[in-house]
Amino acid sequence: MSPKPRAKRLSETNRAIVSLQIDNVPVEALAGDTLLTAILLSTGQTGRDAFNQTRQAGFCLMGACQSCWVWSAAGQRFRACDTPVQQGLQIYTDGERLGW
Ligand code: FES
Repeated sequence: MSPKPRAKRLSETNRAIVSLQIDNVPVEALAGDTLLTAILLSTGQTGRDAFNQTRQAGFCLMGACQSCWVWSAAGQRFRACDTPVQQGLQIYTDGERLGW
């Protein structure tokens, strides 16, 4: 099953566009978005649940549940819900399977 957006932007569309890649998919976010916002508006998935390995999409949206980990191309881990998007950033949502 291919990833799908889980959200749709309805307002605040006049901010600057920020281009990044999520799992090698080019994505456009807006300045001030978090990585989780960019994910939910595009690929729709973060990492895997530690117990049953199902794909996640964040839960608390405020840095408490740890279900939104993503990794940079260098293997640095971030919580997607409290990390702002950056121009040119490459993010991977399944870093544990990539050996990070
Ligand atoms: S969504 Fe809960 S820590 Fe990020």
